[in-house]
Amino acid sequence: MEIKRQVRDFYDSVGWKEIAEGLYQNARYEDLRPVMREYVHRCHQRLKRHLSSRGGLFLDAGSGPIQYPEYLEYAAEFRYRVCLDISEVALREARRRIGARGLFVVGDVTRIPFKPSAFDSLTSLHTIHHLQLSEQESGIRELARVLADGGRGVIVYSWGERSPLMQLARLPIAIAQAVRRSLAGEMSRQGEASGDLTANRSVRAELIGRPGTFTFHHDYRWASANLSDLPGFEIRVWRSVSTAFTRALVYRALLGRLWLAVLFRLEDLAPHWFGRMGQYPMFLIHKLPGHPGAGEERRA
Ligand SMILES: C[S@@+](CC[C@H](N)C(=O)[O-])C[C@H]1O[C@@H](n2cnc3c(N)ncnc32)[C@H](O)[C@@H]1O
Repeated sequence: MEIKRQVRDFYDSVGWKEIAEGLYQNARYEDLRPVMREYVHRCHQRLKRHLSSRGGLFLDAGSGPIQYPEYLEYAAEFRYRVCLDISEVALREARRRIGARGLFVVGDVTRIPFKPSAFDSLTSLHTIHHLQLSEQESGIRELARVLADGGRGVIVYSWGERSPLMQLARLPIAIAQAVRRSLAGEMSRQGEASGDLTANRSVRAELIGRPGTFTFHHDYRWASANLSDLPGFEIRVWRSVSTAFTRALVYRALLGRLWLAVLFRLEDLAPHWFGRMGQYPMFLIHKLPGHPGAGEERRA
């Protein structure tokens, strides 16, 4: 409970603080440079392929303020998007975005206050990793519990330091960061970081001064050993490279856009391999009618 309280306080007082029009402090964890735009956008769209396309209730667990425009599309054909979050600030911001199309519930993903099969589809991005390791399985099972028969759900997770690809990239990242630091003056003159959040000095000082909050990461072995019995469970790639990787190694002048387009194509060709090896996997759940547990009472 203490960790959850600290996570909530962090998002209430720091993470969901607006630092520019429509941009939150939390966006420091995203690489927002123009060279990244297409790749990031396509990864957001990739998630949508695995959701149900329409229905009554859509659950966004750990919704935050629904901070990126692509997120809006996930529930566009649903009657209501139910935003569940422990942060009231997040929910207030989410209400500013979607108003009457949303229902806003302060709650904990490990104890979702809805009956089984309440939602036609659901997603949860970058939230399960805020739970302690011992609670993450129950959080994911809670999401499966509230998904309706026939429904599809997508959970975006991070292997953290345990991503084998990003482990291999550690040395190149460190070298690139060192080079970048030594060229910092030159690079800022050339505007290399234009569009990057951290390009603005006063914002940068403010952001760097704020420590993040708790995150905990299991590895692929844990997920396949503990979650494979969930209906229609699959691990696929959402995005295989970390923000540290792209900030260090992806530049427009070094054909960054082209490399990312190739990477995206490769991820699509081998989604399970990249899901296992890369930074951010998606956990897919698909409850076919007739799976064990089907037919339980549907509405809260
Ligand atoms: C990294 S943010 C992600 C927000 C949003 N899903 C996104 O991708 O932009 C994590 C969100 O999960 C929420 N959260 C953390 N622990 C939670 C819990 N146990 N139950 C519900 N929400 C939680 C936080 O308050 C925060 O809004």
